Amino acid sequence: MIRNLWSRKIGFVASTVLLLTGTAHAAKTPPAIVATCAACHGINGVSIIPTFPDLAGQLSPYLTAQIRDFKNHTRADPLAKSIMWGMAATIPNNEIGTVARYFASQNGPASGAESAALVAAGRKIFMGGIASTNTPACMACHGPNGRGLPPLFPRLAGQHATYVTTQLGYFKQRLRTNGSSSIMQTISSKLTPKEIKEVAAFTRTL
Ligand code: HEC
Ligand code: HEC
Repeated sequence: MIRNLWSRKIGFVASTVLLLTGTAHAAKTPPAIVATCAACHGINGVSIIPTFPDLAGQLSPYLTAQIRDFKNHTRADPLAKSIMWGMAATIPNNEIGTVARYFASQNGPASGAESAALVAAGRKIFMGGIASTNTPACMACHGPNGRGLPPLFPRLAGQHATYVTTQLGYFKQRLRTNGSSSIMQTISSKLTPKEIKEVAAFTRTL
């Protein structure tokens, strides 16, 4: 009798565990830490404030690298210092990969509308570069559709134009120096503020 009860209990516990893990998988339940990130990046990684980057659909190894660099203070531009250093400090090292994979697996942001004139000029730069200043085409590394090239050339498609503009400014002023930033320091130094605005408008529409 007692034996029977126990095996029924164990059976119940086992099927409950199976049920819970099964459900968690299907619904891509966010790791608990994501509740903190959601205030700015959105629960699905699509942010509604253009200063805060979309993380949805971004490459997972790139996200992991950036979170590590906020944590170890090597990404040290003004918004990193004032906001993301503190945020990254709350993510335990063994959760960084889980958080990165969660955001990477979400559908990327929908393309946004921008002024047609800016978009047309930005498309030229993105697709073909600027011959007169030896500026390479952005698509060579970020992909023809702007979805990035694994592992570390980040997605730009659909990203907020404000965020892209800010980052190109940080690279240009050598305020963002972590990872492979030196590539972007060189490229952004060739872009005028007007060209930065144009290319940032174009990537928002991808
Ligand atoms: C208060 C708003 C805020 C919160 C909350 C926040 N972030 Fe951020 N996040 C930002 C800002 C602003 C930036 C841009 C930082 C910069 O320019 O260096 C950023 C940048 C990032 C980036 C780099 C994206 C890229 O394309 O390079 C990652 C990754 C990131 N955040 C992850 C997180 C995670 C994970 C959490 C939750 C633990 C979180 N953030 C919480 C505001 C926030
Ligand atoms: C030779 C390769 C290469 C080319 C060409 C290139 N990029 Fe990049 N870009 C990178 C790499 C690598 C990074 C990531 C740097 C890091 O490790 O933080 C990056 C990062 C960026 C970021 C920051 C993304 C984020 O989420 O924070 C922006 C914005 C960007 N590039 C825009 C451009 C634009 C615009 C062009 C064309 C004018 C361009 N890139 C051309 C390699 C390239």
